[in-house]
Amino acid sequence: MGAGVRRFFEQDIEMKKIFYTRDVTKKFVYNSNFDLYTAPVANWRDTFFSYMAPYPPKPEELPEACRDTMMEFSKQVTSLGISLFGLLSEALGLKTDHLEKMDCAEGLALISHYYPACPKPELTLGTSKHSDNDFLTVLLQDQIGGLQMLHQDQWIDIPPVPGALVINIGDLVQLISNDRFKSVEHRVLANRIGPRISVACFFSTSFQPSSKLYGPIKELLSEDNPPVYRETTVNEYLSYFYDHGLDGTSPLTHFKL
Ligand code: OGA
Ligand code: NI
Repeated sequence: MGAGVRRFFEQDIEMKKIFYTRDVTKKFVYNSNFDLYTAPVANWRDTFFSYMAPYPPKPEELPEACRDTMMEFSKQVTSLGISLFGLLSEALGLKTDHLEKMDCAEGLALISHYYPACPKPELTLGTSKHSDNDFLTVLLQDQIGGLQMLHQDQWIDIPPVPGALVINIGDLVQLISNDRFKSVEHRVLANRIGPRISVACFFSTSFQPSSKLYGPIKELLSEDNPPVYRETTVNEYLSYFYDHGLDGTSPLTHFKL
């Protein structure tokens, strides 16, 4: 998968240009800084993404450089995701298929990043501090490093482990679990060496038009554990997120009761 991402970004600019767009409803979106016009700062990275589920693109809608790997990788990540949602459901004391039945594994966006070598890494960031705006993220990172998570007000390195994937709880799992699971705040440092390549697989239905409401799971609530959040749709949540970009604050606070 990593090699496919590298092939795309390092091919002739004329080939890449065809895919450049800021219209996030396109099947394949290639640009730099999705939040260029809303966030306070820009990040040192380029990105492409595609919604691979529930409505997979036709192979010919994807660039040749990474078409086959994207299709295969998505399949594998989806089955891993279903297992992970099973474990999370059990950890919440719910039936194994509870989160899957809520359609948490229904949508998948494959988001591939390319962080070029940065001559002055102390002046910028690869990715600003944020938590993921999805249910769950499966992240593949290469051997370069730079990923950090915020733990008790300290930035902790998440060093690459060959063959390992990083799993992030997303905001929407924090919301439906009523804060039992916390979406992790993380960032990526810019690096003098590069490129660094990563692929973040976001479980979320994204801008799929759906009126399905997500709020704290009823079975988890009691008098001692009242709902912390109001119900929302994935669409409404994302619209709020896109309006603000990676501005360092959590959109979750906007949905608190
Ligand atoms: C993201 C993200 C980290 C990375 O895409 O949300 O946090 O290692 N990516 O690129
Ligand atoms: Ni992230």
